[in-house]
Amino acid sequence: MVRAAPEFKAFEKLGESRGIMAAKRKIIIDTDPGQDDAVAILLALASPELDVLGITAVAGNVPLKLTEKNARKICELAGKPEVKVYAGAIRPLVRALVTAEEVHGQTGLNGPDLPEPKMKLQEQYAVDYIVETLMAEESGTVTLCPLGPLTNIALALIREPRIARRIKRIVLMGGGFFEGGNVTPAAEFNIYVDPHAAEIVLKSGVPIVMMPLDVTHKALTKATRVDAFRKLGTKVGVATAEMLEFFERFDEAKYGSDGGPLHDPCVIAWLIRPELFSGRECNVAVETASELTMGMTVVDWWSVTGRPKNATVMREIDHDGFFALLVERLGRL
Ligand code: RIB
Ligand code: CA
Repeated sequence: MVRAAPEFKAFEKLGESRGIMAAKRKIIIDTDPGQDDAVAILLALASPELDVLGITAVAGNVPLKLTEKNARKICELAGKPEVKVYAGAIRPLVRALVTAEEVHGQTGLNGPDLPEPKMKLQEQYAVDYIVETLMAEESGTVTLCPLGPLTNIALALIREPRIARRIKRIVLMGGGFFEGGNVTPAAEFNIYVDPHAAEIVLKSGVPIVMMPLDVTHKALTKATRVDAFRKLGTKVGVATAEMLEFFERFDEAKYGSDGGPLHDPCVIAWLIRPELFSGRECNVAVETASELTMGMTVVDWWSVTGRPKNATVMREIDHDGFFALLVERLGRL
């Protein structure tokens, strides 16, 4: 349990009230699977607190035709072929697509040998689905959970600006500040791939919780933790161990660490147990001009600019509690 200093108490209010079972939290997961995306999706599908309205795929770690297929593979791995998966943006708003096969493998889900999905991809364009759902659901009840480049979210905000006041919260994995970047010295991958989309989201006025590298780099897939998934002895547990063993090798070689950072599940874990995390409200701006620092998230942690505090930026995690939650929940699938 992270010591919740007074200024962090705010997060208690941000999460759902505990004790009596709150109503299920409606979420849309926007994703570019990606092994860490896959674990985030599994956590969401295993958690009764959450109602996954739909999953929207975006180009990122690998091209769209693979991210949408991978999302369907993970739903079937979870035993949830009824989940609706939609395909969205095939490329960023302005810049050319940059992918990360060196991290995730050519399929984007290297590690386990998962079968081709039988469940169908939804016909509807993901951006239209996001807009339609936000306009149809009760205002202020749907949380967006972007785990990849923010292209789909930005396109939805452009297509229908009225959704900005209807979104309950955006809880996203992206950015970095004290930790620097992972794709350049300055920028984290999701923001780097589509900095223009990130700027639209950060300026949207929607309440944002941001999981940057500063917190995800404290959630390492140590060997003992990967073993805990394997020891579940289930299809999901073994596949998760195989995904993580492939996914972590790139960062282990780069950082010389035991395990790699498990980024995306931090988003879903915050929805379930916000007390595992702490940070503070800050202004976050993004570089969209300089090639040197393109996609850098400039976090005003010490409030020196006077710019509006547009995001709650997480910096600490109870990583033992985080992995205990993951193993317990994935053990239910
Ligand atoms: O920088 C880490 C992020 O980029 C994660 O979301 C990972 O899946 C990749 O999309
Ligand atoms: Ca991702």
